[in-house]
Amino acid sequence: MDSVVIIGAQWGDEGKGKITDYYAERSDYIIRFQGGNNAGHTIEFRDEEFKLHLVPSGLLREGKKAVIGNGVVVDPEVLIEELDELKMRGIDTSGLVLSDRANLIMPYHKEEDALQERLKGDLKAGTTKKGIGPCYSDKAARYGIRVADLYNPESLKSKLEKIVPMKNRLFKAYGENKTWVVEEIYERYLSYGKELESYVEDVSVLLDKALKEGMNLLFEGAQGTHLDVDHGLYPYTTSSNTVSANAATGTGVGPLNLSSVIGVVKAYTSRVGTGPFPTELKGETGEYIREKGHEYGTTTGRPRRVGWLDLVMLRYSARVNSFTDLAVTCVDVLGGLDEVKICTAYTYTGEKVYDYPADIESLKDHEPVYKTFQGWDDQDWDEMAEKGYESLPENARRYLEFIEDDLEVPITHVSIGPKREQTLKKEG
Ligand code: GDP
Ligand code: IMO
Ligand code: MG
Repeated sequence: MDSVVIIGAQWGDEGKGKITDYYAERSDYIIRFQGGNNAGHTIEFRDEEFKLHLVPSGLLREGKKAVIGNGVVVDPEVLIEELDELKMRGIDTSGLVLSDRANLIMPYHKEEDALQERLKGDLKAGTTKKGIGPCYSDKAARYGIRVADLYNPESLKSKLEKIVPMKNRLFKAYGENKTWVVEEIYERYLSYGKELESYVEDVSVLLDKALKEGMNLLFEGAQGTHLDVDHGLYPYTTSSNTVSANAATGTGVGPLNLSSVIGVVKAYTSRVGTGPFPTELKGETGEYIREKGHEYGTTTGRPRRVGWLDLVMLRYSARVNSFTDLAVTCVDVLGGLDEVKICTAYTYTGEKVYDYPADIESLKDHEPVYKTFQGWDDQDWDEMAEKGYESLPENARRYLEFIEDDLEVPITHVSIGPKREQTLKKEG
């Protein structure tokens, strides 16, 4: 029995979808536990590209259960559309399970997200405008609507009768010409409920049974550690806990059932949205990496900011997540550069700094200290995938082994391209 948690070690888009798909082959249940359709996970197989936002990546592996846990915020319209599209592309979606306790993204949440971003000025995080923050806020304030409410029309109506006028007053106060009608939302959400009914279950009970039967569970994190609402660069974060411990809270599985945590590390750093980024590359090298790595947001299409790998960030991630293994992706993207750099510490007011400050505004005055490595040439990465880790260029292996030695966590997989087959196993 194995319960593996996959976590992004940086600011999202590390290749979690690809690594989840790889591990999914030997898992029975693939489970999302936080975030919503702000995520964009890309999986390439059978010469096709799939971009999943809400559905766990395991749905692409036949016969697996793909579970959306209580910690996910679910936009039912998006979920139905995503399922329809997958069905059209020949994917069997009957393995999907939706928690009866997940909170729902409502039409007003998306508008509130856009409104808050407009009002927040420099404090804006550059959100995906999918309604994630406002939905989690309402959950914490205890006036969220949950999946189970869709099957109790009376209770749903009564909740909407209280919440919708509050939202209308809020928008009016900000001078926004927006009014929601209870009856319209009620009818619309009841009909989503009918469409989704066959997927709805008590996920905690389901996974407890699965564990007792010796099934293998795989938890698919969304976003990244430095977007975590507690441990990330607050306030330039998302609104959920993206770290491994939330795999338990976000599904109703007891924490002692989690057996290993894989940190997915992109061989450099990328970020969409606003906020400090000490190792950001703004010149030609940054442009080279962005174009070569197709660094454009999966969800919003925005160009991603890119920079050198940052060990201050990664040590923090290894600590707060209890990483047991690392999977390093996009090693091919750095191919062709004469030299590559890794930030090993910062200097601040004349001192060396090895940990992130809580006052993240001061990060702009932290200067990265770099160790420079000789680069490696581009290769035939398909051929390399067949040959194995030991055939990687020596300089690439030196770069990777420096990372695992510093973090004291073994690299067990190296990804050298977006396709399913382009994942190398690294022994010892
Ligand atoms: P996620 O959000 O962590 O699942 O990552 P995304 O799918 O948003 O972004 C990662 C991008 O890199 C996708 O386009 C993947 O197809 C691609 N990718 C993943 N691993 C590799 C790799 O090793 N090399 C290259 N070149 N691309 C990769
Ligand atoms: P995956 O799972 C990268 C970023 C947004 C913004 C901040 C808050 O594909 O790695 P939100 O809409 O969540 O309120 O936006 O978080 N963000 C992501 N960045 N990858 C993601 O997901 C992200 N999900 C949210 O750009 O800065
Ligand atoms: Mg992504």
